Amino acid sequence: MCGVAIDGHNNEVKERHIQLVKKRGNVKALDEELYKQDSMDLKVEFETHFGIAHTRWATHGVPNAVNSHPQRSDKGNEFVVIHNGIITNYKDLRKFLESKGYEFESETDTETIAKLIKYVFDNRETEDITFSTLVERVIQQLEGAFALVFKSIQYPGEAVATRRGSPLLIGVRSKYKLSTEQIPILYRTRNFENVKNICKTRMKRLDSSTCLHAVGDKAVEFFFASDASAIIEHTNRVIFLEDDDIAAVADGKLSIHRVKRSASDDPSRAIQTLQMELQQIMKGNFSAFMQKEIFEQPESVFNTMRGRVNFETNTVLLGGLKDHLKEIRRCRRLIVIGCGTSYHAAVATRQVLEELTELPVMVELASDFLDRNTPVFRDDVCFFISQSGETADTLLALRYCKDRRALTVGVTNTVGSSISRETDCGVHINAGPEIGVASTKAYTSQFISLVMFGLMMSEDRISLQNRRREIICGLRSLPGLIKEVLSLDEKIHDLALELYTQRSLLVMGRGYNYATCLEGALKIKEITYMHSEGILAGELKHGPLALIDKQMPVIMVIMKDPCFAKCQNALQQVTARQGRPIILCCRDDTESSKFAYKTIELPHTVDCLQGILSVIPLQLLSFHLAVLRGYDVDFPRNLAKSVTVE
Ligand code: F6R
Repeated sequence: MCGVAIDGHNNEVKERHIQLVKKRGNVKALDEELYKQDSMDLKVEFETHFGIAHTRWATHGVPNAVNSHPQRSDKGNEFVVIHNGIITNYKDLRKFLESKGYEFESETDTETIAKLIKYVFDNRETEDITFSTLVERVIQQLEGAFALVFKSIQYPGEAVATRRGSPLLIGVRSKYKLSTEQIPILYRTRNFENVKNICKTRMKRLDSSTCLHAVGDKAVEFFFASDASAIIEHTNRVIFLEDDDIAAVADGKLSIHRVKRSASDDPSRAIQTLQMELQQIMKGNFSAFMQKEIFEQPESVFNTMRGRVNFETNTVLLGGLKDHLKEIRRCRRLIVIGCGTSYHAAVATRQVLEELTELPVMVELASDFLDRNTPVFRDDVCFFISQSGETADTLLALRYCKDRRALTVGVTNTVGSSISRETDCGVHINAGPEIGVASTKAYTSQFISLVMFGLMMSEDRISLQNRRREIICGLRSLPGLIKEVLSLDEKIHDLALELYTQRSLLVMGRGYNYATCLEGALKIKEITYMHSEGILAGELKHGPLALIDKQMPVIMVIMKDPCFAKCQNALQQVTARQGRPIILCCRDDTESSKFAYKTIELPHTVDCLQGILSVIPLQLLSFHLAVLRGYDVDFPRNLAKSVTVE
């Protein structure tokens, strides 16, 4: 679902208005609709390049044009708003507004915001209330998470943006020198419980020290977005907004204000330069971002290690953690927290972390960790794994651990994200922008980042030196081995041709490769919509064996590691029930292939790194299955890239 609101004017009545165009489908469909309207409705001319647009998945109401954003205050589009997040008290607000005579047209929580701002405007006590003051009053009434951008006929040429709990950044583009690199915050200290006072509170007139513009009043362009990849095509200079910042653009000038909460509040927001290239977010010769990102893994994995692993001295240095190493070595336990694929990266590395750090390691799904009110202590070290750095459950778990004074460590792929900013220290995985909704290269880079952390922790352990050398040597050869696995693409495509009409697909393994099964099954279910389950082979006899018969496709991950003999046992169980296993195994494994219906043979590496190689055939398989089933690989139904709501 998507939509756009642009300033326009009606040639016949010479009246300002906001042109609103919304569509149930994707952005391309909206684009077509815009051109159609432009040529059919000759009364409407787009007189400005200033607009707000939105694309979303439905959290409230069915996906259709009415439920798309921008949402509006009334049929005249007096106020329009776009929103990422969820307003948890929207039912109460809606009831209140309905009692005041407002009629709702959508099922969204966002429509209450559009109506609320109109209500506040209509009930203002002074004529010249500013747009940002209005927005400030509105967000006082909102509970939940939001990133919002407003436009209004009452404030032509202006936009106001704000956030709480959902990410929001501002891109800045200018050919000319900017007036400042640090935008001073305009702080307000009024008592905001007092609604009457607020109406009287007005911003000081903006002067050049309180706003950003180009020197000499030359044009500067501003872009509001929730993710840097959306604007990198236009600029790599960005300002990350903090919770409750209110940013206003008027007359080509940007100002930011907020309510002062404590004396230590940051006095300004800096313009940062992102190291992200446009080409990194283009599909190139690939048919989907997911496919491109799978094939990027030899480079992304290399970039994760670059400048950190010294293959000559067998040492690893993670700059973001080095000052905290002593504290981490003294801790009671490590807790590694994430959601979805990021959680699987924690499962995949748990054993090697236990081995190298000699500490107890808990791995936790963020939502469950919070549901249980898990006890956390100040001598715990908590890792937060997140590609986007914005996942709401992981962010809430981080705040929970901070409140309990644990040391918090972020492992993210997004510079400036909430998790990277709010943690005490961290590792940037350097995988490059990941656009496909199904996470692929972030998983392998998260995996390597956690292994590197284990290696850094164990540098002084005499007893672990041989093991460390073996792992570091394995890391060195990984990019080359990944290329070898990627060369199996055609074979995996053929396998997909056999499997794509199936309803279900099991993926089974154990030990270091249990995470591979969970991650492979997640990839399959999220983009092919087939039922798929990752099964721990050790649990086979405790239930899943009942699923095995001639028809049920089963992929077994059997690698040459300490679990090999036990996996053979599971293989016997499967073949004894006439199952026809498709086996992912090492090239030199003649034993497993004897019982296989089909094999995919992989190069061999160190046991604790093998999961990086074994997951790639499953990423490729899910991709081919989805394409054969006719689905949009990069935009699976009902899913979003960044889950900024609980
Ligand atoms: C699956 C997938 C999701 C994410 C999860 C966490 O392919 O992408 O399961 O891994 O939503 O997202 P991040 O890592 O951004 O916290």
